[in-house]
Amino acid sequence: MEKAWWKESVVYQIYPRSFMDSNGDGIGDLQGIITKLDYLKELGIDVIWLSPVYKSPNDDNGYDISDYQNIMDEFGTMADFDELLQGAHDRGIKIVMDLVVNHSSDEHAWFVESRKSKDNPFRDYYIWKPGKNGDPPTNWGSVFGGSSWQYDETTNEYYLHIFSKKQPDLNWENETLRKAVYKMMTWWLEKGIDGFRMDVINFISKDSRYPDGEVHGENKYGDGSKHFMNGPGIHEFLQEMNKEVLSKYDVLTVGEMPGVDVEQGKLYTGEDRNELNMVFQFEHVDVGNGPGGKWTSQPWKLTELKGILTKWQYGLADDGWNSLYWNNHDQPRVVSRFGHDKEYYEKSAKMLATCLHMMKGTPYIYQGEEIGMTNVAFESIDDYRDLETLNMYNEAVNELGKDPNKVMRAIYERGRDNARTPVQWDDTENAGFTTGTPWISVNPNYKEVNAKRVLQDPNSIFHYYKKLIQLRKENEIVVYGKFELLHEDSEEIFCYTRELRNEKWLIVCSFSTELVKFELPNQIKYQSKQLVLGNYEDEPITIETFELKPYQTLVYKLT
Ligand code: NOJ
Repeated sequence: MEKAWWKESVVYQIYPRSFMDSNGDGIGDLQGIITKLDYLKELGIDVIWLSPVYKSPNDDNGYDISDYQNIMDEFGTMADFDELLQGAHDRGIKIVMDLVVNHSSDEHAWFVESRKSKDNPFRDYYIWKPGKNGDPPTNWGSVFGGSSWQYDETTNEYYLHIFSKKQPDLNWENETLRKAVYKMMTWWLEKGIDGFRMDVINFISKDSRYPDGEVHGENKYGDGSKHFMNGPGIHEFLQEMNKEVLSKYDVLTVGEMPGVDVEQGKLYTGEDRNELNMVFQFEHVDVGNGPGGKWTSQPWKLTELKGILTKWQYGLADDGWNSLYWNNHDQPRVVSRFGHDKEYYEKSAKMLATCLHMMKGTPYIYQGEEIGMTNVAFESIDDYRDLETLNMYNEAVNELGKDPNKVMRAIYERGRDNARTPVQWDDTENAGFTTGTPWISVNPNYKEVNAKRVLQDPNSIFHYYKKLIQLRKENEIVVYGKFELLHEDSEEIFCYTRELRNEKWLIVCSFSTELVKFELPNQIKYQSKQLVLGNYEDEPITIETFELKPYQTLVYKLT
């Protein structure tokens, strides 16, 4: 397997709106990020993935871009961006930008033109269709509720928006549009950025026949996903993008890809495919989704979670590359989701970090994960800001008459605002995030959970993450070692080995609140063992058989 810097890196995601506010308007900004570069350096990460900072009316917090080559007013100016890039590079940290080109904002100049008339030169930058007998062109539902088509009176046609109606889908069949996107990407790369995280990039090729989608359960709309996820022209488009832009730079690329499976993952990331470095798959974070997706979640099993992660580890073992993540700005906090955010809060946060970072792939840390931030449960829906959450609540409670308490519980479990409360820097008012009123309330647990506290405590979650990052830098086996799952059927223990040349590492993680008996499988032979990392002070006398404590994790080097 070829070596590459992006395989050896740890990426840290910043959601700028919630990271650090420098001017007291309650909204995080670029100057705020600059003040925390030393903190990130201390953590030891190699790359920052910056969620969108471009001009945007903020219907979807910057994932609706109205100008790809300017900075959002609330975040600062292009001069601030240049200062951030320089400041990061001076510290040896790279910056990867979010690239949102499945759709733009409806306030983008391209769309403003496009909707003017059917013969406007920008008309075909977007996907316009006439209605079908007074109905939208297809029955597809939008990811954020309602139909995915919006009627526009001016020209008596509908435009497609897989996300909100302020996020019209760009028409990738149009070569002029594609060239405009490549030009914009090149402009950023010439500025010196180090790559792109590509928003829902496997949605850009649609089935040109536009068939209706299947209607599941009590849904009003059809599921069009199979007609736009991993569509017919997707590989051609990505190969073209690679040839025209990416191949000319030494960059990190990661495609966000809901609905991608391992076979497709190989096509997107295979070494000779000339598409992307890695993808964000969703199978493991969707574990336990019910018939209504994440809002009807059910209990999950460790065997399912391990099964999915292992399938990806094996699938991309020799060709392609994995991204490793528990969290991002769309997911609930991992310590609340797969760990234990009460009694075993710290133990489980460290165990989850170990379990993820010791697998093969590039790990991603989402802001606040390194200090153990948890989910939040605001009492009133009025305290929520995410449009997906608000639309779902409105539809469920006001249109379908569902029990508001039940709906709130689903939001507490899986809502996106769990990830978007401000980073808790210290125990002063608003957790030190802003001197003004934060755009979304701070998690009330900031007095106990905050960066200041974990920085001071050498045994904290923060220092544990630091060690994990360090281990990767000092041991090739962590990056390139072969992965093998052990104890496949255990519902309590996630155990695997990594192997490189004559070295083997054993990683043991307990997902249980109880004591669990561990037995070392016979096939593991070794002469000497050395504990590399663990989250309890003492270590078992022998590893042949012992009792794992609640959420215990152990990493052994066996030779
Ligand atoms: C995926 C992004 O991660 C999410 O935050 C956004 O709402 C959608 N794509 C639409 O851009």
